[in-house]
Amino acid sequence: MEQIIGTINGIDFTLGETILELSYLISALLFVVGLKLLSHPETARRGNFYAGGGMVLAMITTLLLHKDTGGNGISLTNVWIILSAITMGSVMGWIVARRVKMTAMPQLVSLFNASGGAASALVALLEFPNADMNNLGSVLVTILGLIIGSVAFSGSMIAYGKLDGKVKDIFSGIMTYINLLLLVVVVVLSVYIMISGQTPEQLNWVIYLLLGVSLLYGIMFVMPIGGADMPVVISLLNSFTGIAAAMAGFIYNNQAMILGGILVGAAGTILTLLMCKAMNRSLLNVIIGSFGGGGTSAANQEGGDMKEISLSDASILLSYSKSVVIVPGYGLAVAQAQHVCHELEELLSGKGVNVRFAIHPVAGRMPGHMNVLLAEADVPYNQLVEMENINPDMPNTDVVMVIGANDVVNPAALNDPSSPIAGMPIINAHLAKNIIVMKRGRGKGYAGIENELFFGEKTRLLFGNAKDSLQNLVNEIKSL
Ligand code: TAP
Repeated sequence: MEQIIGTINGIDFTLGETILELSYLISALLFVVGLKLLSHPETARRGNFYAGGGMVLAMITTLLLHKDTGGNGISLTNVWIILSAITMGSVMGWIVARRVKMTAMPQLVSLFNASGGAASALVALLEFPNADMNNLGSVLVTILGLIIGSVAFSGSMIAYGKLDGKVKDIFSGIMTYINLLLLVVVVVLSVYIMISGQTPEQLNWVIYLLLGVSLLYGIMFVMPIGGADMPVVISLLNSFTGIAAAMAGFIYNNQAMILGGILVGAAGTILTLLMCKAMNRSLLNVIIGSFGGGGTSAANQEGGDMKEISLSDASILLSYSKSVVIVPGYGLAVAQAQHVCHELEELLSGKGVNVRFAIHPVAGRMPGHMNVLLAEADVPYNQLVEMENINPDMPNTDVVMVIGANDVVNPAALNDPSSPIAGMPIINAHLAKNIIVMKRGRGKGYAGIENELFFGEKTRLLFGNAKDSLQNLVNEIKSL
């Protein structure tokens, strides 16, 4: 038995327990500082490193110093099992994260969310037989961990399938009622477990039924959600994963797990609300509405002729402009054209043109996608201007260059109430004096609808892969 070195509120602490609790405190600080640093591209790498360091510290000290109520440490067999699982998970995570393309990041995030949800649900399932049925608080956190973890797991798997194009949107009005019914069943089963007065063994079937219904609810909840709303759903599922992990932390009374889970849950919730705001939609509307799946609005009809611009005309127009705004979008990321885009921006700046980048909050396929992409190419941060700050300058802008963006500059969001993206704030590219659009052909954006901007009087198209078009443009401007 270890020597007791102090007593707080009548609870004795051994040296090992004290070091363990202190390490959790340091981990918590590292999580918070890491999260803060993640909020800016310049410090994000360091933030990731700090938060990861906090996690490693908590894992190592738990492995070495955790004691059960009988004062025993983790058995050697379990240590080996845990280390093997950590090694397998780390190797898989390392390989997948290194290989994944930036444009497939949301799919990876969905898989991570699914793993976190599944882990928390499994903890709840395995610990339920040990639950003290007279302690309603502890039963409640176990049930919540199971429900939220299961919904996060199955919902994230469907989200992964949808983002990867493997699962199609299925929407029917009846699904809203089925979902409500499933929710009622979940609540009834949970209340039954808490008030039936039965032992965990007697309630075994109810727990497995609750697991099944929760998994089904996760599938049915994400299935009808339309294409352009997926980013909101992913961050919502991310917050579910965090909350489920916090519940698992309560089950084990582990402060590091509780705090880590709460931080993920809170960050995910804030991000969800910010993205709803960016798309001008309420969360309820996202969850029960169908959005971005095509629609029958006027903007979805074929739009007419697109007028092309030659390379030499585009280079002259850009070189003799006073102000140019570049609107990057998903196509820029696909083409990996960020470096040559930076080269163009430097070339024009060298000629005295005021060049800025207009950043839409949901441009690309993940939050902050354009910021990360442009930071990778060393574009100075002060040249990136948020949508609400750049929009007032649009009427005085000589040329807006839309590079692989579509939905985020679609005026249908402003003037067609029947459009699936109606109400989403956009970058007002249509108000500029001239618009040059770089895209490969007549491809639509994520929301699957036509964009009248491309057929407008002031718009000229420079067709081709964004990287090639930009490179040709750079060469042409250099030869002027
Ligand atoms: P999109 O609306 O998806 O449009 C991308 C455009 O890029 C397409 O019109 C496509 O036309 C063009 N393109 C594709 N590959 C290209 C290439 N190699 N070279 C040149 N052009 C290329 O992009 P956006 O304006 O960035 O809007 C983002 C959309 O994704 C929004 O609807 C948003 O809600 C949704 N979304 C966002 C997120 C987050 S969190 N950012 C996550 C998931 C979904 P062509 O085929 O004709 O080339």
